[in-house]
Amino acid sequence: MIFVTGGAGFIGSNFVVDWLTPAAGQSAPLRNEPVLVIDCLTYAGNLANLAVVRDNPKLLFERQDICDSAAVLALLRKHRPRALLHFAAESHVDRSILGPAEFVRTNINGTFALLEAARTYYGELPGAERDAFRFLHVSTDEVYGSLGPVDPAFSETTAYAPNSPYAASKAASDHLVRAYHHTYGLPVLTTNCSNNYGPLQFPEKLIPLVTLNALQGKPLPIYGDGSNVRDWLYVGDHCSGIRTVLQNGRLGETYNIGGRTEMQNLAVVKTICATLDALRPRNSGSYSQQITFVKDRPGHDRRYAIDCSKIERELGWTPVETFASGIRKTVEWYLNSSAWVEQVTSGKYRDWVSLQYGTAA
Ligand code: NAD
Ligand code: DAU
Repeated sequence: MIFVTGGAGFIGSNFVVDWLTPAAGQSAPLRNEPVLVIDCLTYAGNLANLAVVRDNPKLLFERQDICDSAAVLALLRKHRPRALLHFAAESHVDRSILGPAEFVRTNINGTFALLEAARTYYGELPGAERDAFRFLHVSTDEVYGSLGPVDPAFSETTAYAPNSPYAASKAASDHLVRAYHHTYGLPVLTTNCSNNYGPLQFPEKLIPLVTLNALQGKPLPIYGDGSNVRDWLYVGDHCSGIRTVLQNGRLGETYNIGGRTEMQNLAVVKTICATLDALRPRNSGSYSQQITFVKDRPGHDRRYAIDCSKIERELGWTPVETFASGIRKTVEWYLNSSAWVEQVTSGKYRDWVSLQYGTAA
């Protein structure tokens, strides 16, 4: 079996669902291997994200904080997984600016606690199980800082220069993972990915926030002048990249994963508006009339771009979705998932929106 921390969050749940769901034309599950999800269910974790695989006997769930190293070690000893995939994190940059402490706790202390548990477990494994074990750390391109307009894209050798408390906490976790390989020989793999989008993303992030605000007739908030650039990757492509690295990645290596889809934020928002104009037209005019420029994010990174030639060249991975196909699937998913939307946008979500944007949700 495999362990997945943060498997009730956006990317983790997409990964688990893909892992357990039969591919088109196949009757057996794609990888036919049990998954234990370890997640403490913060505001961003939601068991409804796993609803489509809830009845699958290969899905196990433990509500558990990753900072409790002894509890994680007990789970490792009990289930003897061949791999631990570490997605759990505080992941939203704006929240890290308003309250960095949780980011230090989960992203740094939590990763440290997992590494300690994994080191002990790995040390106890016999021959073949020991050789097979992997600790895969899911990280971000934000550790590399911000690019100028004509700088080359981030590669695996770009120096770390994190700018937000979130990015700094992820950079620290990457360094710990690296050190556990170098010092203790823990068989680690690290992936650094660009901005993900797709189904099940919590609507604090740009793409789901704008999609849902548009449908509710609310302003579409764009920080600054909207010219900041991100490199967008459909979540299913990120998941296939992680599976590829798990299977064939070289121990101790890092792999950048990206979509080769650099876009300015304003262009992203206009694409969402155009997609909604086609799928769910407003009574009059385009959703783009709701675009509103708001105060910029403090320390807002200008541009991210990922050079993913290493994973393409060495492991044969490549993204399959274009932004056009991925954004259409995503917008359609939000249009068809009103029960999920209602559930996640109640209570605490409203408090966040009024704190961050100074408006009622
Ligand atoms: P998310 O915020 O949607 O989900 C995080 C999950 O971790 C939630 O289910 C939450 O309950 C769980 N969690 C948080 N703290 C925990 C703790 N102390 N113990 C146990 N569980 C805990 O995040 P996401 O967008 O799915 O990101 C997953 C990973 O991918 C993160 O490590 C993030 O840094 C990385 N990443 C995200 C993106 C992106 O665009 N979203 C891009 C690159 C890398
Ligand atoms: O690059 C990978 C990172 O991508 C991940 O590590 C993070 O976990 C993930 O949250 C994401 O970080 P960003 O800060 O880039 O994503 P976010 O969706 O918050 O913002 C995308 C861009 O849109 C960014 O330039 C800020 C801008 N933005 C965001 C929001 C929420 C707006 O203009 N308005 C908004 O309301």
